[in-house]
Amino acid sequence: MQTITTAAALTAAIQEAKQAHKTIGLVPTMGALHDGHLSLVNRARKENDIVVVSVFVNPIQFNNKEDLAKYPRTVEADCEKLAAAGADFAFVPTVEEMYPEPVTTVYHFGPIEEVMEGPRRPGHFSGVAVVVRRLFDLAQPDRAYFGEKDFQQIAIIRNLLEQIKYPIELVPCPIVRADDGLALSSRNMRLSPEARAVAPTIYATLQQAVEMSEYEDVETVQLWVMDTLSSFHEVNPLKEGLCFEPEYFEIVDDTTLQPITDWSDTPGIVGCIAVWLDGVRLIDVIRFR
Ligand code: PAJ
Repeated sequence: MQTITTAAALTAAIQEAKQAHKTIGLVPTMGALHDGHLSLVNRARKENDIVVVSVFVNPIQFNNKEDLAKYPRTVEADCEKLAAAGADFAFVPTVEEMYPEPVTTVYHFGPIEEVMEGPRRPGHFSGVAVVVRRLFDLAQPDRAYFGEKDFQQIAIIRNLLEQIKYPIELVPCPIVRADDGLALSSRNMRLSPEARAVAPTIYATLQQAVEMSEYEDVETVQLWVMDTLSSFHEVNPLKEGLCFEPEYFEIVDDTTLQPITDWSDTPGIVGCIAVWLDGVRLIDVIRFR
Protein backbone atom coordinates (compact mmCIF):
# COMPACT_ATOMS: atom_id res chain seq x y z
CA MET A 1 0.00 0.00 0.00
CA GLN A 2 1.13 3.50 -0.82
CA THR A 3 0.39 6.43 1.49
CA ILE A 4 -0.31 9.58 -0.50
CA THR A 5 -0.43 13.02 1.07
CA THR A 6 -0.88 15.40 -1.87
CA ALA A 7 -3.72 15.94 -4.31
CA ALA A 8 -1.24 15.99 -7.21
CA ALA A 9 0.20 12.58 -6.29
CA LEU A 10 -3.29 11.08 -5.95
CA THR A 11 -4.34 12.52 -9.32
CA ALA A 12 -1.22 11.00 -10.95
CA ALA A 13 -1.86 7.58 -9.39
CA ILE A 14 -5.49 7.66 -10.51
CA GLN A 15 -4.57 8.70 -14.04
CA GLU A 16 -2.26 5.72 -14.29
CA ALA A 17 -5.00 3.37 -13.05
CA LYS A 18 -7.55 4.84 -15.46
CA GLN A 19 -5.15 4.41 -18.41
CA ALA A 20 -4.87 0.75 -17.47
CA HIS A 21 -8.72 0.57 -17.44
CA LYS A 22 -8.82 -0.33 -13.76
CA THR A 23 -11.95 0.18 -11.69
CA ILE A 24 -11.62 2.33 -8.58
CA GLY A 25 -13.41 2.00 -5.23
CA LEU A 26 -13.30 4.90 -2.77
CA VAL A 27 -13.85 4.66 0.98
CA PRO A 28 -13.95 8.12 2.63
CA THR A 29 -13.11 8.10 6.36
CA MET A 30 -11.96 10.41 9.13
CA GLY A 31 -9.59 7.77 10.53
CA ALA A 32 -9.48 6.18 14.00
CA LEU A 33 -10.35 3.11 11.99
CA HIS A 34 -12.29 0.17 13.44
CA ASP A 35 -13.92 -2.93 12.00
CA GLY A 36 -16.88 -0.85 10.75
CA HIS A 37 -14.58 1.15 8.46
CA LEU A 38 -12.68 -1.99 7.51
CA SER A 39 -15.90 -3.72 6.43
CA LEU A 40 -16.26 -0.97 3.81
CA VAL A 41 -12.64 -1.47 2.72
CA ASN A 42 -13.16 -5.24 2.45
CA ARG A 43 -16.26 -4.76 0.34
CA ALA A 44 -14.44 -2.27 -1.91
CA ARG A 45 -11.53 -4.72 -2.18
CA LYS A 46 -13.88 -7.41 -3.54
CA GLU A 47 -15.56 -5.15 -6.09
CA ASN A 48 -12.74 -3.01 -7.57
CA ASP A 49 -9.23 -3.27 -9.05
CA ILE A 50 -7.95 -0.31 -7.04
CA VAL A 51 -9.05 0.68 -3.53
CA VAL A 52 -8.48 4.24 -2.30
CA VAL A 53 -9.20 5.05 1.36
CA SER A 54 -9.09 8.65 2.50
CA VAL A 55 -8.20 9.48 6.10
CA PHE A 56 -9.03 13.12 6.72
CA VAL A 57 -10.64 14.79 9.72
CA ASN A 58 -12.70 17.31 7.79
CA PRO A 59 -12.83 20.54 9.86
CA ILE A 60 -15.70 22.10 7.87
CA GLN A 61 -18.17 19.38 8.85
CA PHE A 62 -17.69 20.01 12.59
CA ASN A 63 -20.02 22.64 13.93
CA ASN A 64 -18.52 22.18 17.39
CA LYS A 65 -14.85 23.17 17.87
CA GLU A 66 -14.43 20.97 20.92
CA ASP A 67 -15.68 17.92 19.03
CA LEU A 68 -13.12 18.64 16.29
CA ALA A 69 -10.30 19.08 18.80
CA LYS A 70 -11.25 15.86 20.62
CA TYR A 71 -11.65 13.78 17.47
CA PRO A 72 -9.25 10.81 17.79
CA ARG A 73 -6.26 10.83 15.42
CA THR A 74 -4.38 7.56 14.96
CA VAL A 75 -2.91 7.84 11.45
CA GLU A 76 -0.07 5.33 11.84
CA ALA A 77 -2.29 2.60 13.21
CA ASP A 78 -4.87 3.45 10.51
CA CYS A 79 -2.34 2.97 7.71
CA GLU A 80 -1.27 -0.38 9.16
CA LYS A 81 -4.89 -1.54 9.24
CA LEU A 82 -5.47 -0.35 5.68
CA ALA A 83 -2.36 -2.13 4.40
CA ALA A 84 -3.49 -5.33 6.11
CA ALA A 85 -6.97 -4.96 4.58
CA GLY A 86 -5.44 -4.74 1.11
CA ALA A 87 -6.06 -1.06 0.27
CA ASP A 88 -3.89 0.23 -2.59
CA PHE A 89 -3.76 3.87 -1.57
CA ALA A 90 -4.27 5.63 1.75
CA PHE A 91 -4.90 9.29 0.98
CA VAL A 92 -3.93 11.31 4.05
CA PRO A 93 -3.92 15.00 3.13
CA THR A 94 -3.41 18.02 5.38
CA VAL A 95 -6.17 20.61 5.68
CA GLU A 96 -4.15 23.00 3.47
CA GLU A 97 -3.76 20.33 0.82
CA MET A 98 -7.46 19.56 0.84
CA TYR A 99 -8.57 23.19 0.95
CA PRO A 100 -5.91 25.41 -0.66
CA GLU A 101 -8.58 28.12 -1.06
CA PRO A 102 -11.18 29.09 1.57
CA VAL A 103 -14.34 27.03 1.08
CA THR A 104 -17.28 29.12 -0.16
CA THR A 105 -19.47 26.38 -1.66
CA VAL A 106 -22.69 25.64 0.22
CA TYR A 107 -24.85 22.66 -0.68
CA HIS A 108 -28.57 22.45 0.01
CA PHE A 109 -30.50 19.21 0.23
CA GLY A 110 -34.07 20.25 1.01
CA PRO A 111 -36.29 18.14 3.31
CA ILE A 112 -33.71 15.36 3.88
CA GLU A 113 -31.44 17.80 5.72
CA GLU A 114 -34.24 19.43 7.70
CA VAL A 115 -34.64 16.42 10.01
CA MET A 116 -32.55 14.60 12.62
CA GLU A 117 -28.86 15.58 12.34
CA GLY A 118 -29.56 18.53 10.01
CA PRO A 119 -31.04 21.15 12.36
CA ARG A 120 -28.82 19.99 15.25
CA ARG A 121 -25.57 20.30 13.32
CA PRO A 122 -25.92 23.43 11.14
CA GLY A 123 -23.60 23.31 8.13
CA HIS A 124 -22.58 19.71 8.83
CA PHE A 125 -23.99 18.09 5.70
CA SER A 126 -22.79 20.87 3.41
CA GLY A 127 -19.32 20.32 4.88
CA VAL A 128 -19.61 16.57 4.27
CA ALA A 129 -20.74 17.20 0.68
CA VAL A 130 -17.84 19.59 -0.03
CA VAL A 131 -15.22 17.09 1.14
CA VAL A 132 -16.87 14.09 -0.52
CA ARG A 133 -17.13 15.94 -3.82
CA ARG A 134 -13.47 16.92 -3.59
CA LEU A 135 -12.60 13.27 -2.94
CA PHE A 136 -14.75 12.21 -5.90
CA ASP A 137 -12.92 14.72 -8.12
CA LEU A 138 -9.52 13.47 -7.02
CA ALA A 139 -10.16 9.72 -6.88
CA GLN A 140 -12.69 9.52 -9.76
CA PRO A 141 -14.16 6.32 -8.32
CA ASP A 142 -16.50 3.91 -10.05
CA ARG A 143 -17.97 3.05 -6.65
CA ALA A 144 -18.03 4.84 -3.28
CA TYR A 145 -18.68 3.03 0.02
CA PHE A 146 -20.62 4.47 2.95
CA GLY A 147 -21.89 2.89 6.18
CA GLU A 148 -25.57 2.74 7.11
CA LYS A 149 -24.66 3.79 10.64
CA ASP A 150 -24.72 7.32 9.24
CA PHE A 151 -28.07 6.72 7.60
CA GLN A 152 -28.86 10.36 6.82
CA GLN A 153 -25.36 10.87 5.38
CA ILE A 154 -26.09 8.20 2.76
CA ALA A 155 -29.28 10.01 1.70
CA ILE A 156 -27.26 13.24 1.46
CA ILE A 157 -24.57 11.62 -0.72
CA ARG A 158 -27.26 10.07 -2.95
CA ASN A 159 -28.78 13.53 -3.38
CA LEU A 160 -25.32 15.06 -4.00
CA LEU A 161 -24.69 12.55 -6.79
CA GLU A 162 -27.99 13.54 -8.39
CA GLN A 163 -27.03 17.22 -8.14
CA ILE A 164 -23.53 16.88 -9.60
CA LYS A 165 -24.48 14.04 -11.98
CA TYR A 166 -21.34 11.98 -11.46
CA PRO A 167 -21.66 8.36 -12.67
CA ILE A 168 -20.56 6.92 -9.32
CA GLU A 169 -22.29 3.91 -7.78
CA LEU A 170 -23.12 4.56 -4.13
CA VAL A 171 -22.71 1.36 -2.12
CA PRO A 172 -24.42 1.42 1.30
CA CYS A 173 -22.87 -1.07 3.77
CA PRO A 174 -24.51 -2.58 6.90
CA ILE A 175 -23.65 -1.42 10.43
CA VAL A 176 -20.91 -3.39 12.16
CA ARG A 177 -21.49 -3.86 15.90
CA ALA A 178 -19.45 -5.00 18.90
CA ASP A 179 -20.43 -8.43 20.27
CA ASP A 180 -22.63 -6.70 22.86
CA GLY A 181 -24.54 -4.81 20.14
CA LEU A 182 -23.00 -1.34 20.41
CA ALA A 183 -22.51 0.14 16.92
CA LEU A 184 -18.77 0.56 16.36
CA SER A 185 -17.74 4.22 16.29
CA SER A 186 -14.50 6.15 16.60
CA ARG A 187 -16.21 8.03 19.43
CA ASN A 188 -16.65 4.86 21.54
CA MET A 189 -13.02 5.10 22.65
CA ARG A 190 -13.93 8.29 24.53
CA LEU A 191 -16.41 6.44 26.78
CA SER A 192 -15.35 5.65 30.36
CA PRO A 193 -15.41 1.91 31.23
CA GLU A 194 -18.68 2.46 33.16
CA ALA A 195 -20.30 4.22 30.21
CA ARG A 196 -19.01 1.65 27.73
CA ALA A 197 -20.55 -1.09 29.89
CA VAL A 198 -24.07 0.39 29.64
CA ALA A 199 -23.83 1.77 26.08
CA PRO A 200 -25.25 -1.46 24.53
CA THR A 201 -28.55 -0.45 26.15
CA ILE A 202 -29.09 1.83 23.15
CA TYR A 203 -29.23 -1.01 20.62
CA ALA A 204 -31.09 -3.29 23.06
CA THR A 205 -33.76 -0.59 23.40
CA LEU A 206 -34.02 -0.21 19.63
CA GLN A 207 -34.44 -3.97 19.24
CA GLN A 208 -37.24 -3.94 21.81
CA ALA A 209 -38.83 -1.07 19.90
CA VAL A 210 -38.96 -3.23 16.77
CA GLU A 211 -40.75 -5.99 18.72
CA MET A 212 -43.13 -3.42 20.16
CA SER A 213 -43.94 -2.10 16.68
CA GLU A 214 -45.86 -5.33 16.04
CA TYR A 215 -48.62 -4.18 18.40
CA GLU A 216 -48.10 -0.51 19.35
CA ASP A 217 -48.55 2.60 17.22
CA VAL A 218 -45.68 4.73 15.95
CA GLU A 219 -46.00 7.52 18.49
CA THR A 220 -46.13 5.10 21.44
CA VAL A 221 -42.96 3.34 20.28
CA GLN A 222 -41.19 6.63 19.63
CA LEU A 223 -41.97 8.01 23.09
CA TRP A 224 -41.18 4.69 24.76
CA VAL A 225 -37.64 4.68 23.38
CA MET A 226 -37.01 8.27 24.52
CA ASP A 227 -38.48 7.58 28.01
CA THR A 228 -36.74 4.24 28.48
CA LEU A 229 -33.32 5.76 27.84
CA SER A 230 -33.83 9.01 29.73
CA SER A 231 -35.11 7.20 32.83
CA PHE A 232 -32.60 4.33 32.62
CA HIS A 233 -30.41 5.72 35.43
CA GLU A 234 -33.46 5.97 37.72
CA VAL A 235 -34.22 2.25 37.50
CA ASN A 236 -30.66 0.92 37.21
CA PRO A 237 -27.74 1.46 39.57
CA LEU A 238 -25.36 3.62 37.51
CA LYS A 239 -22.26 5.53 38.59
CA GLU A 240 -23.15 8.96 40.00
CA GLY A 241 -24.02 11.37 37.18
CA LEU A 242 -23.99 8.77 34.43
CA CYS A 243 -27.18 8.80 32.34
CA PHE A 244 -28.49 8.56 28.79
CA GLU A 245 -29.68 11.84 27.31
CA PRO A 246 -31.47 11.04 24.06
CA GLU A 247 -31.41 14.00 21.67
CA TYR A 248 -33.90 12.50 19.23
CA PHE A 249 -35.40 9.23 18.15
CA GLU A 250 -37.18 9.52 14.81
CA ILE A 251 -39.13 6.82 13.02
CA VAL A 252 -38.82 7.72 9.34
CA ASP A 253 -39.36 6.69 5.73
CA ASP A 254 -36.02 5.20 4.64
CA THR A 255 -35.88 7.24 1.40
CA THR A 256 -37.42 10.62 2.22
CA LEU A 257 -36.27 10.53 5.89
CA GLN A 258 -39.56 12.18 6.85
CA PRO A 259 -41.24 10.99 10.07
CA ILE A 260 -44.08 8.53 9.57
CA THR A 261 -47.25 8.44 11.65
CA ASP A 262 -48.48 4.93 10.82
CA TRP A 263 -46.64 1.66 10.14
CA SER A 264 -48.61 1.36 6.89
CA ASP A 265 -47.39 4.78 5.61
CA THR A 266 -44.51 3.36 3.59
CA PRO A 267 -42.79 0.00 3.01
CA GLY A 268 -39.29 1.05 4.18
CA ILE A 269 -39.09 2.31 7.77
CA VAL A 270 -36.04 2.95 9.97
CA GLY A 271 -35.54 4.42 13.43
CA CYS A 272 -32.62 6.82 13.90
CA ILE A 273 -31.34 7.85 17.30
CA ALA A 274 -28.78 10.25 18.77
CA VAL A 275 -27.95 9.85 22.45
CA TRP A 276 -25.51 11.61 24.75
CA LEU A 277 -23.70 9.36 27.20
CA ASP A 278 -20.77 10.44 29.34
CA GLY A 279 -20.19 13.56 27.22
CA VAL A 280 -20.10 11.50 24.01
CA ARG A 281 -22.73 11.74 21.28
CA LEU A 282 -23.63 8.31 19.93
CA ILE A 283 -25.87 7.55 16.96
CA ASP A 284 -27.52 4.32 15.84
CA VAL A 285 -30.12 3.07 13.37
CA ILE A 286 -32.52 0.15 13.29
CA ARG A 287 -34.80 -1.14 10.54
CA PHE A 288 -38.48 -1.59 11.42
CA ARG A 289 -39.78 -2.73 8.03
P1 PAJ B 1 -16.32 8.38 9.57
O1 PAJ B 1 -17.16 8.68 10.73
O2 PAJ B 1 -14.86 8.10 9.76
O3 PAJ B 1 -16.95 7.16 8.82
C1 PAJ B 1 -16.43 6.72 7.58
C2 PAJ B 1 -17.39 5.71 7.01
O4 PAJ B 1 -17.45 4.55 7.84
C3 PAJ B 1 -18.83 6.27 6.91
O5 PAJ B 1 -19.41 5.89 5.68
C4 PAJ B 1 -19.51 5.59 8.10
O6 PAJ B 1 -20.91 5.43 7.92
C5 PAJ B 1 -18.80 4.25 8.13
N1 PAJ B 1 -18.94 3.61 9.44
C6 PAJ B 1 -18.64 4.14 10.64
N2 PAJ B 1 -18.96 3.28 11.63
C7 PAJ B 1 -19.49 2.18 11.03
C8 PAJ B 1 -20.02 0.94 11.51
N3 PAJ B 1 -20.08 0.66 12.81
N4 PAJ B 1 -20.48 0.05 10.61
C9 PAJ B 1 -20.44 0.35 9.28
N5 PAJ B 1 -19.94 1.48 8.76
C10 PAJ B 1 -19.48 2.39 9.63
O7 PAJ B 1 -18.59 9.49 7.95
C11 PAJ B 1 -17.53 10.09 7.94
O8 PAJ B 1 -16.38 9.60 8.51
C12 PAJ B 1 -17.36 11.45 7.28
O9 PAJ B 1 -18.56 12.17 7.36
C13 PAJ B 1 -16.89 11.34 5.80
C14 PAJ B 1 -17.92 10.65 4.92
C15 PAJ B 1 -15.55 10.62 5.70
C16 PAJ B 1 -16.70 12.76 5.23
O10 PAJ B 1 -15.76 13.46 5.96
